[in-house]
Formats: sequence, structure tokens, C-alpha cells
Amino acid sequence: MVKRIAVLTSGGDAPGMNAAIRAVTRTGIYHGLEVYGVEHGYAGLMDGQFVPLTLHSVAGIIQHGGTMLKTARSDKFKTADGFNQAVGSLQRMSIEMLVVIGGDGSMAGAVKLSQAGIATMVVPGTIDNDMPGTKYTIGFDTALNTVLEAVNKIRDTAASHERVAVVEVMGRSAGHIALMAGLACGAEVMLLPEKPYDIRDICAGLDKSYKRGKLYSIILVAEGAAKGYDIADQIAVSTPFKPHVTVLGYIQRGGSPSAFDNIMGSRMGARAVEAYIAGSKDQLIAFEHGDILTKDYHAALSERKGIDYAIVDLAGILSM
Ligand code: ADP
Ligand code: F6P
Repeated sequence: MVKRIAVLTSGGDAPGMNAAIRAVTRTGIYHGLEVYGVEHGYAGLMDGQFVPLTLHSVAGIIQHGGTMLKTARSDKFKTADGFNQAVGSLQRMSIEMLVVIGGDGSMAGAVKLSQAGIATMVVPGTIDNDMPGTKYTIGFDTALNTVLEAVNKIRDTAASHERVAVVEVMGRSAGHIALMAGLACGAEVMLLPEKPYDIRDICAGLDKSYKRGKLYSIILVAEGAAKGYDIADQIAVSTPFKPHVTVLGYIQRGGSPSAFDNIMGSRMGARAVEAYIAGSKDQLIAFEHGDILTKDYHAALSERKGIDYAIVDLAGILSM
């Protein structure tokens, strides 16, 4: 009997997920495994939405954002009924190992499957870069570049009109996107959920910069810290500035993956299969100290993933 493995993508899609699907498929086939894709994440798993993946079926996908397997968020999978349905689907298909490509919620699902005796491997994929156990999640770099490109454009018009521009970015309850994009685009202010702020300090800072001759400013607001429109309103009532607001929204999740995300997707997807063939299971494929390694879920979950406060300090100095 040829061994069967399966792969799914779950939670928010992220550029580079296709590279990971391709790498799982081709590495599996190279090692003599049969590979199945599960469409629509855990929702599709409960319904048994398996599709055979071949060398050909993953051709021509690496350059595209999103995920060719589609994705979903499923509350039903979190219930006992839904979960048992998913386990049943995997058993009926004789799947020996499932690769889950997704964020921390998706990893929580994979951990539960492993506790029920289903071998799993997690490839970290989310633009938020907020997973414990790994310094990098696939999609983050592309999202940062999307924010950078957008803010560069917003800066042109903010400079021309001598305005304050408030830009709200994604990241759920974490500030990694706002912080690193803020450093990359030279934002004057970054509001992060991890760092309490006082709107009076922000207004005073804008005033001071203006008096020094800085006639426009970029304020990046992480969605987990505040709403961009609320920040603009608060600035407008306390200062002479009338900020304009851009909520970047879903543009941050789409687009062709950066070279880095396709390299990470390819390496991490391949590593998930290679580690399984070498006898590991129930591991997060992690990025640490410039290297890709495997970590058991217990070790990964015991780590806290915070923002890098040295970068917060640096960004503060550079935006003076
Ligand atoms: P992400 O994986 O990007 O963090 P979500 O948090 O939305 O995205 O999680 C994706 C899916 O993973 C959820 O819709 C749900 O089906 C599953 N999931 C999330 N948390 C758990 C959990 N604690 N137990 C089981 N499954 C979970
Ligand atoms: O996890 C990725 C992400 O884009 C977050 O940054 C954002 O908060 C969330 O997904 C939005 O999710 P949805 O697609 O369910 O609106």
C-alpha cells in the first residue's frame, strides 16, 4: 500500500501558501507518497472534500497569491461533532499524515487532531506573523511590501497637501505588520496593541514636528490597537490637523508572493514532508536564527510571540 498524506490551508489566506502546497505535493510524490489536497480547510475536511494532487495539478500556481485549495474558518470544526467528522474523513481516506498550512488557530486544530491520534505537521502561514514558536510565517513579507508600496503612494499626496495621513493596517491582535512596515516606510508614528499610547502625546508630537518644519506625517495604526478613523477624529479635535484616513484592508492579503515568501513556502512545505518521512510527526515547521527547523507543538505553544521592542525603540529614534 502506498502511503497517503494530505494537505490543507486554513484561516486567512497568505501569499506563499501555493508554494507550500506545491512543495508538499512534489516532495511527497518524489518520495513515493500519494498526496491529496483538502479543499476549504477544516470545513472541507469535515465534508471529505479530497482532491488528488499530482505533479501537474500544482503547476503554474507558485506565482499566485491566495490558495489553490481555498480556505475557510469553521466554528463547527471546534465542536465535538465537527471534529469527529473530520477525523472520520481522514480515516476513511487512510490518510497517514495531514499537513496544515495556516496560523495559530489552524495550529490549535492540528494539535487537537494529533491528540486524537492523527499525525499532523503545521506549516506557518499568515500575514500577521503572530504564531508562537516561529519567528516567521509565510505571507508576512509580501504583506509588508504591499503596505510599503501603499504608504509610499500615500506619502506623495500627504506631502503635497501637507497633511497628516492615518493608515490602518491588519494584524488581528498583534502589531507585527504595523511595526515592521512602519520601520520600512519611515512612519512618524506607529500605534501597536502591545504598546499603550496616549493620544495627547501623539497630538503633541505632531505639533512639535510641524513647528520644526515637518509639514506632513504618516501614522500607522494596527487594527488591534485602534480604528484609523477614531484616531483621525481624536487628532482633529485636539489639533489644527485634519488627517485623512486609508484603511488598507484585504489588499494586504493578496498579490503575487515575494521571492522570500515563495522560498519560505517551498522550504517549509518540503521540510514538513521530509521530517515526516524521517520519522517525526506533530511538529511545527519553524524559522529561527535564519534556519528552518521542526519543533513539537508543546515546545512551540510554550513560547510567547511578542513584538521586538528593540525595533520599537529604533523606529522611535528614526522617526524623530
Ligand atoms: P488562523 O489559522 O489564521 O489563526 P483562525 O484563528 O481563524 O485562523 O483559525 C482557523 C480555523 O482553525 C478556525 O476556523 C477553526 O476551524 C480552527 N481552529 C481555531 N482555533 C481552534 C481550536 N482552539 N480548536 C480547534 N480548531 C480551531
Ligand atoms: O489573519 C489574517 C487576517 O487578515 C488578519 O490580519 C485580520 O484581522 C483577519 O485575517 C481578517 O479575517 P477575515 O478574512 O475573516 O475578515
